[in-house]
Amino acid sequence: MAPEPLYDALLDALNATFGRHPGFRATHAKGLLVNGTFKASPNASTLSRAAHLQGQTVPVVLRFSNFSGVPATADGDPLASPRGLAVRFTLAGGEVTDIVTHSFDGFPVATPEDFLIFLQGIAANVATPPDPLPLHSFLASHPRARAFLDAPKPAPRSYAGLEYFAVNALVFSNHRGVETIGRYRIEPLLMQPLLSDAEAAAKPADYLQSEMAEQLAKGSLTLRLVLQLASAEDAIEDGSVAWSRQHQEVELGIFSLDSLAPADAQFGAQQQLAFSPGRLLDGISLSADPMTLARDRIYQRAVLRRQQR
Ligand code: HEM
Repeated sequence: MAPEPLYDALLDALNATFGRHPGFRATHAKGLLVNGTFKASPNASTLSRAAHLQGQTVPVVLRFSNFSGVPATADGDPLASPRGLAVRFTLAGGEVTDIVTHSFDGFPVATPEDFLIFLQGIAANVATPPDPLPLHSFLASHPRARAFLDAPKPAPRSYAGLEYFAVNALVFSNHRGVETIGRYRIEPLLMQPLLSDAEAAAKPADYLQSEMAEQLAKGSLTLRLVLQLASAEDAIEDGSVAWSRQHQEVELGIFSLDSLAPADAQFGAQQQLAFSPGRLLDGISLSADPMTLARDRIYQRAVLRRQQR
């Protein structure tokens, strides 16, 4: 399939799965905006000349989200996992760059083409009447998609208490033109224990939003940005395979989460914001992973659809 029809078909399949909710994202519909800053560590500029990685303090907006494309999905619902974390960095000159991560180290598939078959299978499975066969046959030949669906994804106690993975590799170029391939991870300084299914089910629908408001009322929260460097055996072009955690990692910097965006501005600001994992600055570029380019294009199309409604 040519790229544009493929991207539209992916958006149609997400809408068929979750329904259409005017103004909301096709997936990760429920979100919370937090304002803060990022300060790169000295190591970051040795890997990339990108402007936000040179050590000055950069304002950021973080959007924490639930996976579901249904805005009313409760925070404790299994469909709310994996959680999302998207970050917008705004530089002094007005340039912006984004990171988009979720709380699972991997993805069901490696390519947008396979994601379409997977999503169409899920859409058929939740249709009325349901047809489980397409998903069943796709999962039979795609064990990583099966593993993704089967993996436990427990609910967190806090949006700021778990690890987030950018999944798709990027290429980092420094001032001398030396290139390094890596995947971002964003993590708390101390991981928090996750909730049991029973604990999650008993929580109020918006408990993660209330928890964040309570924490920020007491003071700033800290998250760390890490780059996991590709080793010789790591598959750069396949985001469905997690890389070993035994290889070299570099701390790129620290996020300080300072305040919630005002409640009356949350929805409007989220509608306006359009994150993309492909919105990059000089010093960081797309990799051989086909999802990096596809996701950039898909998110741009998705924004047009949701802002037009
Ligand atoms: C071909 C594969 C993918 C497709 C078709 C897809 C589709 C989408 C779409 C349509 C949106 C809504 C964009 C908007 O309206 O602003 C979205 C958001 C999001 N996606 Fe993906 N996605 C893909 C892969 C991934 C991967 C690999 C991750 C994990 C890192 C991910 C994490 C997220 C997150 C966290 C958001 C919410 C971003 C925000 O807060 O605005 N997606 N995705």
